[in-house]
Amino acid sequence: MARSIYVSVSIMIYVLSQVSISNAYPIFAQKGYENPRETTGRIVCANCHLANKPVEIEVPQAVLPDTVFEAIVRIPYDMQLKQVLSNGKKGGLNVGAVLILPEGFELAPTDRISPELKEKIGNLSFQSYHPNKKNIIVIGPVPGQKYREIVFPILSPDPSTKKDIHFLKYPIYVGGNRGRGQIYPDGSKSNNTVYNATSAVDASEGRQSVDIIPPGPELLVSEGESIKLDQPLTSNPNVGGFGQGDAEIVLQDPLRIQGLLFFFTSVIFAQVFLVLKKKTV
Ligand SMILES: *[C@@H]1O[C@H](CO)[C@@H](O)[C@H](O)[C@H]1NC(C)=O
Ligand SMILES: *[C@@H]1O[C@H](CO)[C@@H](O)[C@H](O)[C@H]1NC(C)=O
Ligand SMILES: *[C@@H]1O[C@H](CO)[C@@H](O)[C@H](O)[C@H]1NC(C)=O
Repeated sequence: MARSIYVSVSIMIYVLSQVSISNAYPIFAQKGYENPRETTGRIVCANCHLANKPVEIEVPQAVLPDTVFEAIVRIPYDMQLKQVLSNGKKGGLNVGAVLILPEGFELAPTDRISPELKEKIGNLSFQSYHPNKKNIIVIGPVPGQKYREIVFPILSPDPSTKKDIHFLKYPIYVGGNRGRGQIYPDGSKSNNTVYNATSAVDASEGRQSVDIIPPGPELLVSEGESIKLDQPLTSNPNVGGFGQGDAEIVLQDPLRIQGLLFFFTSVIFAQVFLVLKKKTV
């Protein structure tokens, strides 16, 4: 009895760890950090995805209140690249992203998304980072082959119904990742990273020092070699990486636009009248 409980518990832990390892990044961040952007501006995904790679974001320069618009996030990488998957086989890279919008902005509700925009989004199902942080949206891991470009449908807030929202210019932050991580949240290393020597070994001294290297990275040292502290013992199998970027968006007051239009129209009329007046003189 006790034994079977022990066995099922360990199977459960095994299954859980398999799931979390293959689903990886956004969930780890969601569990570990209340806010994915630290006060320094660093996005926490960089804690586990050590290589630095680019990410791009495209948003309209200005939006009107209560309007659906697209935020396009691009996570460029070479489609030929393959990585070691957590099942040990080689395969394509997954991608994931976190979009940190200004307070009040959120994922557009399905009934506000046009059919054209739905088509651009594809089968992606976005999530808020936290139930009370609707302005932070995460996606992934999803196959990079299909989703190197991710279209987020966003709804702008309406200052006339939300008192703490104002017509202003706001920053938007994005983090984008491709590929498996190098470090798990508990600090342990994945096998998608380089292993360096944790101590120096002089081959002539015959002293032992043990570094455990999992299957995955390729060994670069051989028996009987002297080794320096921090010397890479393996290749670095990681082909992916994480990057962050930002953009700006203006929440535009429609009354201000109407005012501007009125102003321009009156300027044009004034010019026309001047011309007409000149002609009659
Ligand atoms: C990497 O580790 C996973 C377990 O996390 C294992 O299944 C896989 O076989 C390892 N990679 C290689 C190339 O052996
Ligand atoms: C969405 O999923 C359906 C069914 O799984 C599939 O047929 C379709 O090709 C997918 N579309 C995209 C854009 O991935
Ligand atoms: C391992 O060594 C390489 C090369 O010296 C270095 O760039 C890297 O930061 C080291 N990695 C770790 C995890 O210590």
